Amino acid sequence: MTRIAVDPARCVGTLDRNVFGGFVEHLGRCIYGGLYDEGSPLADERGFRRDVLGLLRELRMGVLRWPGGNFVSNYHWADGIGPKDARPARPELAWGAVESNRFGTDEFLAYCAELGTDPYICLNMGTGTLEEALAWVEYCNGAAATAWARRRRENGREEPYRVRYWGLGNEMYGDWQVGALSAEEYVREATRWARAIKMLDPDAVLVSCGMNGWNDWDRVVIDGLAPLVDLHSLHIYTGSDDYWTNVLQPHQAERAIRCARALIERVAYVKRLARSPRIAYDEWNVWFRTDDGKLEERYNFSDALAVATYLNIFVRNCAWVRMANLAQMVNAIAPVVTTSAAAVTQPIYYPVLLHARAALENAVDVHVDGPTVSPLESGHHSRWPHRVGDLGPFGLVDAAATASADRRRVAVTLVNRSPDHPETAEIVLRDLAFDGAAEVRGLTAERDPGAREIADVQGVHLAEGAEKPNGPVLTLTLPPQSFTVVEAAATGL
Ligand code: AHR
Ligand code: AHR
Repeated sequence: MTRIAVDPARCVGTLDRNVFGGFVEHLGRCIYGGLYDEGSPLADERGFRRDVLGLLRELRMGVLRWPGGNFVSNYHWADGIGPKDARPARPELAWGAVESNRFGTDEFLAYCAELGTDPYICLNMGTGTLEEALAWVEYCNGAAATAWARRRRENGREEPYRVRYWGLGNEMYGDWQVGALSAEEYVREATRWARAIKMLDPDAVLVSCGMNGWNDWDRVVIDGLAPLVDLHSLHIYTGSDDYWTNVLQPHQAERAIRCARALIERVAYVKRLARSPRIAYDEWNVWFRTDDGKLEERYNFSDALAVATYLNIFVRNCAWVRMANLAQMVNAIAPVVTTSAAAVTQPIYYPVLLHARAALENAVDVHVDGPTVSPLESGHHSRWPHRVGDLGPFGLVDAAATASADRRRVAVTLVNRSPDHPETAEIVLRDLAFDGAAEVRGLTAERDPGAREIADVQGVHLAEGAEKPNGPVLTLTLPPQSFTVVEAAATGL
């Protein structure tokens, strides 16, 4: 049995909805033939696929990052505005494609408005210039009668878009990045950019380009840029055919958050900063099967358990993780995949959906006491060099909890990683009692595949019901390999 003590009075952080963020890149069929498909009977007059839009809207993304990823380091945004037929096609260097530029800034910002999601634009620090970046900010946000703001109005948008989030380059440390820099070069360049962008738009929320959280790159970048930026970005991908490696590797994000936080706290103290950056996990996912220019990964249920665990980790650490962007959203390593005739969901869609639906304003303290797992060394069979053995033992059940500000509602998210055994979970509320039945949603692997809309895309099984608590205690049976979400009202004892 696993006992999960939830203390709604002990807030561990306010949850920023940006933790349920997404990322779409000009990569393979993510944009073209994915969310944007001109001429498709499934698309609206703007070319937005209605079926994709419907599935993404359900995920209630707080923020959506664009246009890359590696793509951005050779992207010149001004190619992607104005009449579509006059836009130039360009060689795309990151993934070896041709960029038509038919989906550009105005299309992306219209798409975000359609989703009710805040845009987050990553700037080109590879082949791009500071002048070009400033012009992009002016085009989006300029309220005065300046040249780029006028171009925006000519293109049909009178009001400034008020784009708040701007990323200072993508993975600038890597040799796969066009125009990669050393950490010192990056700090020098990004310092110039940050100062100038804040002069143009003091409301800009700037994100420095971090690495994994524990690398020297992060140390140098945090030391140099902490006084100037609002968020420091991290990326993480995990995954393996080995079940335990796959479901436990996301705990590497906990190491990354701790390391990045320590680096930030150190510089904040030493430099006496009044404000210091928080963390944006602006790319994260399971990804290990594909390595071509399309990344059309097919996901199974163990990947869904890993994704559920990542979100538990971001919720538990939300005082520091203020944004997290699932990479990516459509076709490329994505929860939603398309053919010309349909858009369907992969198993990783569902933990995101259930988490985003259930999450309340504050993350609250949760203590898990039960069986543990201690892999000898996780990571041997992985494409990624994440060794998490030293972080264990891990609870067989991983849990996170949120509560409404008035503590009248609680939500608990539970991952049972046991491959073959159900686990009894006893959720105990501290100083409160459950008020009425709890809504319980349990996600397990698909039982009866039936006819599939897309042959190799797996489904899931979702059981929805209500369970009766006993005062402060709710006892549940968690199926083997399952993700369970409990939503309930609470009252004073
Ligand atoms: O999401 C796929 C790629 O992974 C992104 O383009 C890049 O930033 C990362 O390496
Ligand atoms: O074989 C281990 C895991 O069990 C697989 O990754 C998953 O598909 C199954 O549920």
